[in-house]
Amino acid sequence: MQSKGSILIIDDEQDVRESLEELLGSEGYALDSAGTAEDGLKQAGDRPYDLALVDVNLPDSSGIEVLKVLKRESPETGVIMITAYDSSQTAFQASKEGAESYITKPWDNDKLLLEVESLLDRSRLRAENVQWRRALKQYGLPGIVGKSQAMQKVFDLIMQVAPSRATVLIQGESGTGKELVAKTIHATSPRADRPFVPVNTGSLPVDLLESTLFGHVRGAFTSAVASKRGLFEVADQGTIFFDEIGTIGVETQTKLLRVIQEREFMRLGGTDTVKVDVRIVAATNVDLRRLVAENKFREDLFYRLNVIAVTLPPLRERKEDIPLLLDHFLARFSRENGRGDMHFSPEALKLLLDHDWPGNVRELENAVERAVVLSSGPVLQAALLPEQIAQNGNGHHHVITGFEEIDGRSLFDIMENYERDVIMEMLSRSNWSQTEAAERLRIPLSTLNQKIKRLQIDVKRRRNSDLTLERSVGSL
Ligand SMILES: Nc1ncnc2c1ncn2[C@@H]1O[C@H](COP(=O)(O)OP(=O)(O)OP(=O)(O)O)[C@@H](O)[C@H]1O
Ligand SMILES: [Mg+2]
Repeated sequence: MQSKGSILIIDDEQDVRESLEELLGSEGYALDSAGTAEDGLKQAGDRPYDLALVDVNLPDSSGIEVLKVLKRESPETGVIMITAYDSSQTAFQASKEGAESYITKPWDNDKLLLEVESLLDRSRLRAENVQWRRALKQYGLPGIVGKSQAMQKVFDLIMQVAPSRATVLIQGESGTGKELVAKTIHATSPRADRPFVPVNTGSLPVDLLESTLFGHVRGAFTSAVASKRGLFEVADQGTIFFDEIGTIGVETQTKLLRVIQEREFMRLGGTDTVKVDVRIVAATNVDLRRLVAENKFREDLFYRLNVIAVTLPPLRERKEDIPLLLDHFLARFSRENGRGDMHFSPEALKLLLDHDWPGNVRELENAVERAVVLSSGPVLQAALLPEQIAQNGNGHHHVITGFEEIDGRSLFDIMENYERDVIMEMLSRSNWSQTEAAERLRIPLSTLNQKIKRLQIDVKRRRNSDLTLERSVGSL
């Protein structure tokens, strides 16, 4: 028969060891025992035990010392300390040093067995989590990219918090990936095969929101013709995700606080409490602390939610992630659209890198999809980018952005710079066709040619940089 778990007993009193062996042995645990700290630690070093029961008073050392060594050398072993009398001082020290629990002699057999069983469950989970984290470190988080330090920190945090049930508050501007992070936390947690239930609180009136969350019993309100389960019940053993948590009203905040504290609630119009095991993840793009200061958000709820805070920086503050994201979305959209390898032209790339991304990753994702869909060849030209991105740089700086730039310069110089900008802009919009640009500027081609020469606009180099890439890609 496979043992239910391995336990090491370290106690100098022989009759204590014997009665523990008898009790735990009859339950099918694999047991070893030691009468001294030295012998106990030697055995613990020889094989990994799931659990150790350690007497506080040992002849050759204190049990607390043994606990410290165990926690250092065998962190996957759970430890229960055994004390001769109920001393809160010892209990405090034991828990400070990482003991999972403690029992006092004489113990109650049933309670001891329950304690052992629940600790073994937890230590099994811990061992699984250690393995799981190792695998994640090796293979990375799926579907979420970023190499900036800020994003690496976010990934580390996700890996640390996913195994637990801790409530997480994700903050970040619109489109920074809050929902993606919430999903990743769920998908890499032990709850992964249970539901992930997103709730968008913003659009619903209070009554509807509460019945959506908590369910209702028949007759709770006029249209409640049948009882209905709420999303908290749907999410049982899984994760519930509150999007835009800052928009929920104070009344509902109070109910939410109760669920977080008690893990139970009542259906609307109901009298029975419903117990659920739900992990709560919330997101906001407004500063909740500000809402707290303005009395629009309950402070106690804020602290309950903010147990683990994940902050997603805007894309403009982590520009080193842009190339990675471009690759990621380019690969995805070219695959989805049945296209081969695709690349951005150097000019397009420069515009993308220079852009400020007010819409963050979502804006970038949309820009890539649009370019892929609109392009006929494998090279995505600047002209395929949305106007607000293409307008930005054109690979050179605009002269007329403000009058601070005209100080100390001649009018002729200023006008020439402006003329150069306008011609470059039009050339870029015309895919560097001089004929087309001349038409659009309503000047003869020969005049455009003269201006290009006089203003020393390097058309050849620009066009070539696009063409060379196109050719090299085309010949693959
Ligand atoms: N680091 C990332 N790697 C890959 N894709 C990402 C990343 N961050 C965001 N995305 C993608 O960008 C889009 C927007 O992300 P998401 O919906 O999670 O943002 P959000 O912060 O919830 O936005 P909003 O505040 O507007 O609700 C999604 O399609 C998401 O998959
Ligand atoms: Mg969102």
